[in-house]
Amino acid sequence: MSAASAPPSHGHGHGQGHGNAPASPLTARRCGALSGRLRPPGDKSISHRALIMGLLAVGETMIEGLLEGDDVLRTAQACRALGAKVERLGPGRWRVEGAGLGALATPREVLDFGNAGTGTRLLMGVVGGHAITATFDGDASLRKRPMRRILDPLTLMGAEVVSEAEGGRVPVTLKGAADPTPIEYRTPVPSAQLKSAVLLAGLNSPGRTVVIETEASRDHTEKLLAYFGAQIASEPHGEHGRKITLEGRPTLRPRPVIVPADPSSAAFALVAALIVPGSDVVIEGLMMNPLRVGLLDSLMEMGADIDVLDRRIEGGEDVADLRVRHGSLRGADIPAARAPAMIDEYPILAVAAAFATGETRMRGLNELRVKESDRLAAVADGLTACGVKNRIEGDDLIVEGAGSARGGGTVATHLDHRIAMSFLVMGLASDEPVTVDDSNMIATSFPTFRPAMERLGATFG
Ligand code: S3P
Repeated sequence: MSAASAPPSHGHGHGQGHGNAPASPLTARRCGALSGRLRPPGDKSISHRALIMGLLAVGETMIEGLLEGDDVLRTAQACRALGAKVERLGPGRWRVEGAGLGALATPREVLDFGNAGTGTRLLMGVVGGHAITATFDGDASLRKRPMRRILDPLTLMGAEVVSEAEGGRVPVTLKGAADPTPIEYRTPVPSAQLKSAVLLAGLNSPGRTVVIETEASRDHTEKLLAYFGAQIASEPHGEHGRKITLEGRPTLRPRPVIVPADPSSAAFALVAALIVPGSDVVIEGLMMNPLRVGLLDSLMEMGADIDVLDRRIEGGEDVADLRVRHGSLRGADIPAARAPAMIDEYPILAVAAAFATGETRMRGLNELRVKESDRLAAVADGLTACGVKNRIEGDDLIVEGAGSARGGGTVATHLDHRIAMSFLVMGLASDEPVTVDDSNMIATSFPTFRPAMERLGATFG
């Protein structure tokens, strides 16, 4: 399938999600009780990885429930450029005919990842372990994000950075290693993207690649590699860490992948139901992977009324339905060690904290400064614009919850989908409406956010 035959609503390649479309402000207004059921879209992390596994396996990988957000469509396009045949069969149903580990094509075009850090970094790992050269680029947000953390270990493995923008930013041209050197690598920051890049480069190495992380990060790469037949072992390391050992040059066999619902997208409806009076909402099929449920743990500590129902396995992951009801929340102290398990959920937790009573302190948020925006600053500024008292102390964000929020502000989203969705949720429960300066980026991870929330009773526009 060509890029042109991607689903039309996703504006593949240009405009929407690319950071150069005209801004599209959106306002959320106080609404009545939210009710009904919501099935969040497929998990973004697993969607990227499913396509990449399909690229690296020889034969046909079938994927169900793929997130058809702009970020993932960029990865699909990059996989095509690297030699896979990637076809959309129907909503969320995709087929990948892999090029195979060690047999990737040199892309003829620049790999344009738009807003997508995950696709960029994981495929830098893949390219870094192959005798091919590729150029990675993206939108204004991606061009600000640090890539040195990925390029450094890849260089140790024998890849060469042919060119890069100042400070190790994209556009980056990377020449991969024909025979990547197996390394033992301690990740200097807790990052699943970094861990995954090293493992994916190590796949094509003739030896054993070891990654040690002092704080365990999401393990979807490890699980999918094992599922596709790689020899990979993960063991505890220190108090919160993991040591992952991968044997190079496995035969990867295509396997069907069912993508579970994304807890990071579910988070918006979950918090909306907690803060809009009278709400009673069921969120279906939420992935309960322990390395992704930090938000749930935090909200429970804050006294949230959440019932976990029908725990089951779907697509190799623990999933459950959540029944979420409005109720009072109290401030909490969120430990730094929980950050990797809820790294993308701090903006929406900050919104919940505004509606709680008492102070919420979120510790150890340094990594938030290098997400799609400087999320620490963007959240603090957005809260201030909406009349919520807050402060940053070192790497901690402190929100003074007053049980309500004034709203009434316009929030700068800085090309960041999660900032946009978080403050729209705030507007559903605040005294005055909340406007976000641009809603285009929501299409990167949750293209159906607006209609899905409207079906529950949310009011936008
Ligand atoms: C992701 C890992 C996280 C997260 C990102 C997705 C992944 O980033 O913020 O949205 O799929 O591996 P880091 O690993 O850099 O913390």
